[in-house]
Amino acid sequence: QHSPSRGGRFNEAVDAFVERFTASVGFDQRLWRHDIQGSIAHASMLAEIGVLTKDECEAIHNGLNRIAGEIERGEFIWRIQDEDVHMNIEKRLTALIGEAGKKLHTGRSRNDQVATDIRLWLRDEIDQILKTLTRLQQGLLNQAEAHADCIMPGFTHLQTAQPVTFGHHLLAWFEMLCRDRERLLDCRRRVNRMPLGSAALAGTSYPIDREITCRLLGFEAICANSLDAVADRDFAIEFCAAASLCLLHLSRFSEELVLWTSAQFQFIELPDRFCTGSSIMPQKKNPDVPELVRGKSGRVFGDLMSLLTLMKGQPLAYNKDNQEDKEPLFDAADTLHDCLRAFADMLTNIRPLRENMLEAARRGFSTATDLADYLVRKGLAFRDSHEIVGAAVQYAAAQNKDLAELPLEALQGFSAAIEADVFAVLTLEGSVAARDHLGGTAPAQVRAAVIRGRQRLADG
Ligand code: ARG
Repeated sequence: QHSPSRGGRFNEAVDAFVERFTASVGFDQRLWRHDIQGSIAHASMLAEIGVLTKDECEAIHNGLNRIAGEIERGEFIWRIQDEDVHMNIEKRLTALIGEAGKKLHTGRSRNDQVATDIRLWLRDEIDQILKTLTRLQQGLLNQAEAHADCIMPGFTHLQTAQPVTFGHHLLAWFEMLCRDRERLLDCRRRVNRMPLGSAALAGTSYPIDREITCRLLGFEAICANSLDAVADRDFAIEFCAAASLCLLHLSRFSEELVLWTSAQFQFIELPDRFCTGSSIMPQKKNPDVPELVRGKSGRVFGDLMSLLTLMKGQPLAYNKDNQEDKEPLFDAADTLHDCLRAFADMLTNIRPLRENMLEAARRGFSTATDLADYLVRKGLAFRDSHEIVGAAVQYAAAQNKDLAELPLEALQGFSAAIEADVFAVLTLEGSVAARDHLGGTAPAQVRAAVIRGRQRLADG
């Protein structure tokens, strides 16, 4: 029995290996729900324009719904001889309902069918991903609010730079995820266009009404050129690019969590249920979840590269190469969703070790810039005060002391402009509170940013 997509044109059966080599049902069966959704809409439209009778359309709808039940219950038998999800379902439909099943594919090709399926599928995935992303961002806002005044060292070059608040640091990640959200939403607009009706590449000679299918499937627009509609997968590439950036952010965030849980930092505590032990070293509590997220980001960068490379040499319109679009795309969506979920679950459960963070900020001369700014307010030029404070830091380091721990007389040895009020600016609390402007690290700014952040999430 020949495979259904070959029809009557061939004189010999397909080579058994070629059959397996060219089949995609092993992975594209995942599209079944959207394939059926698309077919139901297509049949409705064909009935509307009089290509199918009402009875035929009804039989097709009932048959497809019955198949959906079979697949859901795990009863459906996927056959490699039927190549892909589309032919498997169509074949079963005809077995179930007879003649009417053979008419479903009128005015349609698998080329516009598969492009439609992927877009419907990806649209749903993006919506799920956005929900989990929102949960993660809400968690970040809650933690930032709870720790708006928790002081930690801020770093440049991984060297202590200036004190910041933990809340402010978390809001930096919140901002990056906001841009990831924007990118996904923007990508969704271009995913949400309908190829159906383009048929194989040139359109169809049936008087189809694409407005009907577009409305039934909830697409925002109809792809305006039939060749383009079946040929391009730029929407999938765009999604992988947005997913890559989001995972890039999560990977960097992971790197910080790994550092912060180390004995050398001890800035945060991860709950035991997000960590594992070592089979040999009894003392270990390893931050596996962030490490895995960091590692998994690489897969998605790979998925993006796969799709870019897959497209770049293809002449118009559809080519079988495109069958290779699915596994990277599925992998990118799954990996992104899993990593966001892991982060959302983990983040609400991290506990900052406030004392350790504060102590670390004290040790690194993180208020040296505040002292330099203080001298400027007393009339010195910034370059001169930079020089003076540098010398004071060198002196304090040699004494194994922080600037705030030096006696006033010692400080005055570096500049006569220094007075008793200097100690107010040398404190960590004073330093963060002074950076009290939009985007600054002051606790008051963090709290205001959290409120704005909640509004932004509510606005979508
Ligand atoms: N399984 C195919 C794919 O994933 C469906 C389209 C096949 N079209 C064709 N003309 N061979 O791309």
